[in-house]
Amino acid sequence: MLKARNELATLKPYVPGKPIEDVMREFGLTEVIKLASNENPLGCSPVAKEAIIKHLDNLNLYPDGNCTSLKEKIAGIYSVSPSEVSLSSGSDEMCDLLSKTFLDHGDEVIMADITFPRYISTAVMMGAVPVIVPLKDFTFDIKGMADKVTDKTKLIWICNPNNPTGTMVPTSEIIELLDSVSEDVLVVLDEAYREFVTRDDYMMDSENLLSKYPNLVIMRTFSKAYGLAALRVGYILAASSIVTEIDKIRGPFNVNSLAQVAAYAALDDQDFIKKSYDVNKEGKEYIYKEFDAMNVPYAKSETNHIFFGVEKDAFSIFDALQRAGVIVRPMGAKHLRVSIGTMEQNKRFIELIKDML
Ligand SMILES: Cc1ncc(COP(=O)(O)O)c(C=O)c1O
Repeated sequence: MLKARNELATLKPYVPGKPIEDVMREFGLTEVIKLASNENPLGCSPVAKEAIIKHLDNLNLYPDGNCTSLKEKIAGIYSVSPSEVSLSSGSDEMCDLLSKTFLDHGDEVIMADITFPRYISTAVMMGAVPVIVPLKDFTFDIKGMADKVTDKTKLIWICNPNNPTGTMVPTSEIIELLDSVSEDVLVVLDEAYREFVTRDDYMMDSENLLSKYPNLVIMRTFSKAYGLAALRVGYILAASSIVTEIDKIRGPFNVNSLAQVAAYAALDDQDFIKKSYDVNKEGKEYIYKEFDAMNVPYAKSETNHIFFGVEKDAFSIFDALQRAGVIVRPMGAKHLRVSIGTMEQNKRFIELIKDML
């Protein structure tokens, strides 16, 4: 039998949440609410849709492989040079690109448990060694991570705020970590959920650290608050030397042109982002209140999802919710993650879970 690379032997394919249509078909439902993948329940900005429609006559043309306009736009917003921006097909692809670009066999990669699963799979894929630091109180233990740095450490993944627990670490801790590691260690701050953060000790302007820390990579996405998950567009802000290395292995047209024009337009509609923030905050507060009343333990979230504990088996609750038309995500035997939906969707979720618990 044809044998894949040895590093793949222990890897399993990523299993995403079931699409709405599959759940409808499987359980004979006419209405299904998906609160499983941290998507934006408001959709995306209408200006992004208009930009896509305008571009539909150009589908015969390859996209701009450099994403020049979008790069310049992002660079302008965050006051960096376009050479310090690299676009990818979702930040998922960027996890891949960073690992392929920087990880040698045997390098150590520090990450938390639990966190975004692509960090570990891309490390293993490269034959690197994952060094796992458990969360403390559902929150990144930055000091514990710094203590794990050795002369083999090549990469540290900080998901801030974290998926799936929704917790965040303050600016001061990130700076302490950056000060404590050598410039040979890449520190990636995954800020996929930054637009939902409510706390004011969050580093909203982490790009200002780039000039001081050339080993810092800031990773962001248009999939969450911008509501463009289907189009697959994410990016990093990082030293141009890092971008140049990634360019050597990146697919030449990795971000399609509809994604480029939609992301460009979406950046101009900050009213949509504000509305998404407000709806999310209101939804979180509603669910907290209901969880408190039911004595359901949960982690206070700075994202668009809530990680909560259950006494019964989490997989049975996930299954029962799914059969009733609400898809959430089980997270091991005793926890689940629910994405914040519209108020109507949140109410439906609460109504069902109240009965089940
Ligand atoms: C923390 C985190 N990073 C990155 C991603 C990947 O997002 P995308 O590839 O859609 O940009 C996700 C998606 O859920 C995420 O939760």
